[in-house]
Amino acid sequence: MALCVKVNKKEAEDARKLIIQMGILDRRYRVFRDSDNVFIPVTGDRELPWSLVEKELPVLDSPETDFHRIVHLPEGLRDSLPTSFDVIGDVAIIKVPSNLVSYQESIGLAMIQANPHLRLVLADGGVKGDCRVRQLEAIAGEGGSETVHTEFGVRMQIDPRKVYFNPRLSNERHRIAQQVKDGEVVLDMFAGVGPFPLVIWKNSRPAKVFAVDMNPSAVEYMERNIRLNKADGIVAILGDANVVLADLPQVDRVIMNLPQSAMEFLSLAVSRCKPGAMIHIYLISERESWPEMRARALQQGSETGRVLRLSMEKELKTYSPTMSVYALDIQVH
Ligand SMILES: C[S@@+](CC[C@H](N)C(=O)[O-])C[C@H]1O[C@@H](n2cnc3c(N)ncnc32)[C@H](O)[C@@H]1O
Repeated sequence: MALCVKVNKKEAEDARKLIIQMGILDRRYRVFRDSDNVFIPVTGDRELPWSLVEKELPVLDSPETDFHRIVHLPEGLRDSLPTSFDVIGDVAIIKVPSNLVSYQESIGLAMIQANPHLRLVLADGGVKGDCRVRQLEAIAGEGGSETVHTEFGVRMQIDPRKVYFNPRLSNERHRIAQQVKDGEVVLDMFAGVGPFPLVIWKNSRPAKVFAVDMNPSAVEYMERNIRLNKADGIVAILGDANVVLADLPQVDRVIMNLPQSAMEFLSLAVSRCKPGAMIHIYLISERESWPEMRARALQQGSETGRVLRLSMEKELKTYSPTMSVYALDIQVH
């Protein structure tokens, strides 16, 4: 027997939404409809505006984990659904195509139904401004947008409405952390809430990590995350990298994750490098013209009088149908 909410057909959709948002849909059973009523299985008897009954319901073989299969959409629109979404802690971020905007609540509810660890779904309106903060609209779920995200042993408090954070870069952060040698001094010029410094601190043994960002909210979260992870060798610095780097010592490694404009800061980064230091720079480029952009980066760095050697390059992720984000490891002698 399953515990169910019994509602008349007219109220069934509202009831289903509320039950999913409260996180009490019992995913072991299938929703059942008779001629007048709908029976929705629930996991607890929290106060609800409908009567609770016990009923024999069809058992689901395994709960559905793909939101594409359960979302309520007019046929013909299903192909427009995004194939993936990002997850930061218990918050999901999805780009809703313009032809699906009027169904975004249904999409968000289906995502929560299929992924019970999600609490809130936000629609992504793109990254804006120098601080690279996303425009986000809540489309389903409950609570605020602040969440706690875990990555390679690091716990980070993040509010994606106030700061930039990209969960898809976790492997890249780990790749860099693995290169850090004992006692290194590291500089992250565009650190955000501190994911590169924190993953480095937890997984390697640097002497110090200087972490700069010009977004006051990012630095506030970074300071919290330093305390949360007892990473007292990370120094959070609020300010424009163009200005604050002058007061920092020479370093063994520089991270430059500002793909739209990192090139403008490359000479400055080179000037902070000890001989043999490594720069990890991320650049957005048209795929066709990447070889020229890579050459320009090396050329620009050499104009400082230092010798630059390309140590690694890779296409990190797709940015648009014709553009990608590329990663370069450049050694400075
Ligand atoms: C693409 S985000 C990367 C954040 C972080 N590295 C991460 O992986 O989550 C770029 C960051 O650079 C910061 N930023 C942009 N221009 C800056 C500047 N001139 N000086 C310092 N920080 C800057 C933004 O506020 C933003 O947090």
